Amino acid sequence: MGAPQTSRAALPPLPATARVGVVGTGAMGAGIAQVAAQAGHPVFLYDQQPGAAARAVDGIRAQLARLADKGRLSPAQAEAASARLAPVDSLAGLAGAALVVEAIVENLEAKQALFRQLEALLAPDALLGTNTSSISVTAIGAALQHPGRLAGLHFFNPAPLMALVEVVSGLATDPAVAHTLFATAAAWGKTPVHARSTPGFIVNRVARPYYAEALRILQEGGADCATLDALMRDAGGFRMGPFELMDLIGHDVNFAVTRSVWSAFYHDPRFTPSLIQQELVEAGFHGRKRGRGFYDYRDGAQRPAPAVMADQPRPQPGCIVLWDASDVALALADRLHARGVAYTWGEGPAPAD
Ligand code: NAI
Repeated sequence: MGAPQTSRAALPPLPATARVGVVGTGAMGAGIAQVAAQAGHPVFLYDQQPGAAARAVDGIRAQLARLADKGRLSPAQAEAASARLAPVDSLAGLAGAALVVEAIVENLEAKQALFRQLEALLAPDALLGTNTSSISVTAIGAALQHPGRLAGLHFFNPAPLMALVEVVSGLATDPAVAHTLFATAAAWGKTPVHARSTPGFIVNRVARPYYAEALRILQEGGADCATLDALMRDAGGFRMGPFELMDLIGHDVNFAVTRSVWSAFYHDPRFTPSLIQQELVEAGFHGRKRGRGFYDYRDGAQRPAPAVMADQPRPQPGCIVLWDASDVALALADRLHARGVAYTWGEGPAPAD
């Protein structure tokens, strides 16, 4: 087994003055552009939908201004980062970029076609990054004349906040390219990790069963979304429950990733896509970005409450005896103390149950 591939990058990052291009300015592209601009790069944004890149730039600038209001950035930093962002209305506007990151639709042919166009446009030493969540970087690269310069640069949603970036090497990726992207992501304040182009890479492979089991419980009528989300969030310590997270990611994206991992594993039943999620996609209920998903985000909509026991005074036990100062017992003691519940430590071996 090799050493964990989080070691120090062997090559320097791209200089902060290097131009960065971002193609596809939806949730992810806009977030990546913000990260690169905050790191000092001039960033050029292109989207095939007319006006979308300009709207994304306006949105990022508003976001930077909010960060300045909250004191997370100085006003000068926010203004400087805002000034580094420029929408362009054709791919040709990205010529001169040292790195182009795509965050377009999750579709192999669309990504291959885009990179073929970029290859013809950019300098031979320009780097290409794909933010794909699940498509084989090897397969995307196969469409290129020089696949060595392409690697996955997989950010997580929301890109400005999430630390992890998977730097994904396809079979033909030049290791120097992967190392430069690794160092660049680190220079952007991220925590990069090298990954090979296996289905789902690391995080999406591990995350599939999280969504799949939640969807199965829902389908079997085990509990509703709000209850399952509350359980995972409040009892499991997750930042978001699975349904909130799928709504944030977007069901179109999340479903496409599941389908892609499922087919890449030759329909291994562990990764079987959910009919419930398929129906949301068919309805156009793509989650927060469309105003509806598992939850309703339209103005005035009520969030359903989890089915939990009402918070009411409950009789407290007279005294609890804890044995054996294990980590679990110590954590329990902390919680009892915080709630004002009396406990003592038992002496000698714990009684058998
Ligand atoms: P999105 O639907 O919010 O944005 C995609 C944008 O790309 C749209 O504005 C669309 O007009 C544009 N676009 C589509 N085809 C294009 C083309 N050929 N040329 C130029 N622009 C084009 O999607 P989102 O969520 O930002 O995802 C984008 C990519 O990032 C996908 O590959 C997705 O798998 C990946 N990703 C998504 C994550 C998420 O949580 N949403 C997380 C990590 C990766």
